[in-house]
Amino acid sequence: MNPDVRIAVVGATGVVGREIAGLLAERGVSAEKVTLLASERSEGAELEYGNETLEVEPARSDGFRGIQVALFAVPPDVARGLAPAAQAAGAWAVDVSATFRSDPSVPLVLPGLERKGAVRPSKGRIVACPSATTTGLALALEPLWRFGLEEVQVTALVGSSSAGGRGISELERQTADLLTGRELEPAVFPHRLAFNLLPQVGAFEGAEAAEERAVGLELRRLWEGRGREVAVGATAVQVPTFYGELLTITAQLSSRPSVEAVQEALKASSALKLLDDPAARVYPMPMLVTGDVAVHVGRVRHQGARGVSLVACLDNALRGAAYNAVEVGQALSSAP
Ligand SMILES: NC(=O)c1ccc[n+]([C@@H]2O[C@H](COP(=O)([O-])OP(=O)(O)OC[C@H]3O[C@@H](n4cnc5c(N)ncnc54)[C@H](OP(=O)(O)O)[C@@H]3O)[C@@H](O)[C@H]2O)c1
Repeated sequence: MNPDVRIAVVGATGVVGREIAGLLAERGVSAEKVTLLASERSEGAELEYGNETLEVEPARSDGFRGIQVALFAVPPDVARGLAPAAQAAGAWAVDVSATFRSDPSVPLVLPGLERKGAVRPSKGRIVACPSATTTGLALALEPLWRFGLEEVQVTALVGSSSAGGRGISELERQTADLLTGRELEPAVFPHRLAFNLLPQVGAFEGAEAAEERAVGLELRRLWEGRGREVAVGATAVQVPTFYGELLTITAQLSSRPSVEAVQEALKASSALKLLDDPAARVYPMPMLVTGDVAVHVGRVRHQGARGVSLVACLDNALRGAAYNAVEVGQALSSAP
């Protein structure tokens, strides 16, 4: 990261914001260059930053003067209000919410993708990053393009932290309540999540829920210009785990590579870690991926005549959001 750049983390008290601050500290960005912002509720709260403690300030639209890069990890309506204010103050605004992902005037960037890895400066100064599900899926599929990727079906098993701090608290409370014979009304999830599975992530619009619709739309944008339309079908399930997301993926290919050739291709990607020895009980799991920026892949096998299936697992808050924001911010910190 350019050491002269001043960086704001907007949503610093949240699940993703804390990961962003952790990555900045790890990369040696000094505390004097970092401003931690959140809602008025968190004003004055103290957060650890490396070996230091920083005070959280309230995010206001007139608060971006002197900031060159603002990394947004806030609810969509908050990003819609504040990212343009950061842009107007001359900062690059990198947003991990759904707000700008389908806006054609805002680039959608996923660090680690071969073709769109580099940030292309656009007219505006807002850059969007894809959802955690799209991040895991796009990175896991990238090595399969060489085998003629034609169609993809994915089931995303999404932990409660995908719904932020409130999602984690609701699952904690529900679990404890049920074990002591009580049951509270759900507030964050549409039904009780503890000891249950919900085939709904986000609001329904027609037959698809928001998370499912977003995957197809975001992949289309990320894969623009590849000269091939790939059909994508997604099902998202909210599962009663806290951290990590697991994807079961089946890809239809125009060729039939051996399982070993697919494994080699996955292994060669610096964004992925291959864990594939089922007989020795080695495969991707949320408990292994927490804290890792690599997407874990494994369980590679043939599925029908031209199908290959695999399992991918990622740390949704870290690799699915924070790492993307920090990598994009780093690339932009040296842009004019
Ligand atoms: N969690 C994931 O795995 C994940 C993955 C990809 C993308 N995302 C996206 O990342 C964003 C943040 O998610 P999260 O999981 O970190 O949520 P979270 O844990 O609920 O954190 C939300 C953050 O936004 C702040 N905030 C809320 N209202 C605000 C306001 N009016 N002004 C300024 N700050 C405000 C909160 O501050 P207070 O603490 O003061 O309320 C908190 O710091 C969301 O858009 C989400 O869709 C999340």
